[in-house]
Amino acid sequence: MITASSPSSAATTARSAPHAVPPRLPVMGWQTFQGPRDAALPSLLTHPRHQLTTSGRAAILLALECVGVGPDDVVLVPSYHCPTMVAPVLTLGAQAVFYPIDAQGAPRLDWLQAHAPVRAKAMLATHYFGLPQPMDANRAWCDARGIALIEDCAHAMFGRSGSRPVGGWGDVAIASLTKFFPTPEGGILALNRPDLTLPALTPASSLQQIKAAADILHMGASHDRLTGLNRLIRGVFALRGLLRRPAPVRFAEPAAPIGDTTTAAAAAPEERVEDVDANMALIDLPLSHRALTAASGWVSTRVPRQRIVDARRRHYAHLLQAFQGDAGFHPLMPQLPADSAPYVFPLWVRTPDPGYLEMRRLGVPVSRWDRLWPGVPALPGDAGVAWSHHVLQLACHQDLSEADLHGIVTQVRRLFGA
Ligand SMILES: Cc1ncc(COP(=O)(O)O)c(C=O)c1O
Repeated sequence: MITASSPSSAATTARSAPHAVPPRLPVMGWQTFQGPRDAALPSLLTHPRHQLTTSGRAAILLALECVGVGPDDVVLVPSYHCPTMVAPVLTLGAQAVFYPIDAQGAPRLDWLQAHAPVRAKAMLATHYFGLPQPMDANRAWCDARGIALIEDCAHAMFGRSGSRPVGGWGDVAIASLTKFFPTPEGGILALNRPDLTLPALTPASSLQQIKAAADILHMGASHDRLTGLNRLIRGVFALRGLLRRPAPVRFAEPAAPIGDTTTAAAAAPEERVEDVDANMALIDLPLSHRALTAASGWVSTRVPRQRIVDARRRHYAHLLQAFQGDAGFHPLMPQLPADSAPYVFPLWVRTPDPGYLEMRRLGVPVSRWDRLWPGVPALPGDAGVAWSHHVLQLACHQDLSEADLHGIVTQVRRLFGA
């Protein structure tokens, strides 16, 4: 249920008592273990040559390294992006050149054909919102130009794109575990080109192992999802907080380095990576080359998957229906493809400000990619820059309740209805 509360009262709640606000990402609870283990849809977790990483951004960095991107190379990046898609490119000393996308979120290959620099070595193409994009034309264009295709499945853990599973088109594919599983960290690197080799990653330390397991439990207990254990777990963390932090704690912790997923998780488990204020920092190289912790790996590979797919599809369909027929907003993607498990529900809003900030203040699980990387140009026929202003990404994950969805719909109608 979404309730109006000030940021400071939210801070108190985050530390000591069950959250009154819906989780922005999946959270561990007894419900996590319900339903059939295998999903009817393929997943990057069943890709024949994959490796778990500490995050999606770490996987992008490793993917770029795999295909040999280095200083002075050019990587083609879509104009609609979050900073974590661009930072790995710059971390390697390469240059990001932004390309336009069309109204469906597909790369404008006509523009790329005319304008892509000859130095372009790789292209990042994204299945936005978890709705699989056609990738065959991107594949053919990259093949013709000798460019490596990095298929960004951070939003699309499950699904099919045309004749292949998502993640089957790129030379390399990447995914993000935190968006689909109740884990504070995690990503996937998957290789489709036989000549590429999976990198050797350094093991996580014992402390990191323990911390990841604790963060998973803390997230669940913070949202009151571990009936029978909630109070105990919250009590332990409250005690730990008292012992470690004598000074009053502010809700907004200083922004962590962009790759520092574990720090982000510890600072405020319910916000995690998504809300590390989207700074333009570079990627944490040692963390990117570290293996995923056992607890995060276990959660992501062991929990039943069909419930995740079913609930996300059900929630998307609910929001589709709820958001028809208002002049102030409309579903950006009014069809839910059969072979998909959405990450978020993209809603086009005619006048998103100041309502978007108000939604954030109220704790509505919504985000917007309004932090474009500096220097993104205005490109002819580009939908991406307009999306970054007008498109709100509403949560539709498996751990939202009916009341949470109702709260989202109520706030959208109240703030943006014509
Ligand atoms: C499309 C896309 N790619 C990559 C990433 C990076 O994933 P992670 O947050 O796991 O580092 C994100 C994160 O939001 C994303 O939205």
